[in-house]
Amino acid sequence: MPFTIAIDGPAAAGKGTISKAVAAHFGYAHLDTGLLYRAVGAKVLAGADAIEAAQALQAEDLENGDLRTAEVAQAASKVAVIPEVRSALVDFQVAFARRDGGAVLDGRDIGTVICPEAEAKLFVTASAEVRATRRFKELSEKGSDQSYDDVLADVIARDKRDSERATAPLKPAEDAVIVDTSDLSIEAAIAAAVAAIEAAGA
Ligand code: DC
Repeated sequence: MPFTIAIDGPAAAGKGTISKAVAAHFGYAHLDTGLLYRAVGAKVLAGADAIEAAQALQAEDLENGDLRTAEVAQAASKVAVIPEVRSALVDFQVAFARRDGGAVLDGRDIGTVICPEAEAKLFVTASAEVRATRRFKELSEKGSDQSYDDVLADVIARDKRDSERATAPLKPAEDAVIVDTSDLSIEAAIAAAVAAIEAAGA
């Protein structure tokens, strides 16, 4: 039986960590849909046309190891405003969401556009400062010399582009459970997510 868990929210709110933990907890498959936009963004940085890149995207493209850079994240957020890019990526996401055995998809528009019928919907968020602090720590540990102010500016720019675009903007579905992780440990955030999903019948 399909059971879809939609997890949306802004960058660095803890969506990825929560989604992986939730998928492991329930034994469901997990798709990080940001990777689709990142893979298209990476191709555009390499000179491709965004719409052609989205239409030709292959599952292998998601395994490109360089999709996690700040440069690719901004390129992803830019291609994500193009309606033809978004529509080229819909079928793959919908098929993944309705597979047998359960699926967790995380992104920006899963509960609103890709899977409005999802059995469980979460909107994971945190203040821009908390998200920038987490991202800054992560980047510093990887040896990046980006300043905290630059990271915060990046987070704010991406939030603005993601939530103000005309097609499928970042916003909670009306029936989403909001999980604000600003003052939660990772364990507490995962526990809150699992409890909300169990309440939805998983
Ligand atoms: O989740 P992420 O940081 O990997 O996403 C990268 C960008 O892709 C994000 O800034 C906006 C876009 N995106 C989107 O528009 N819709 C999604 N479902 C997932 C990501």
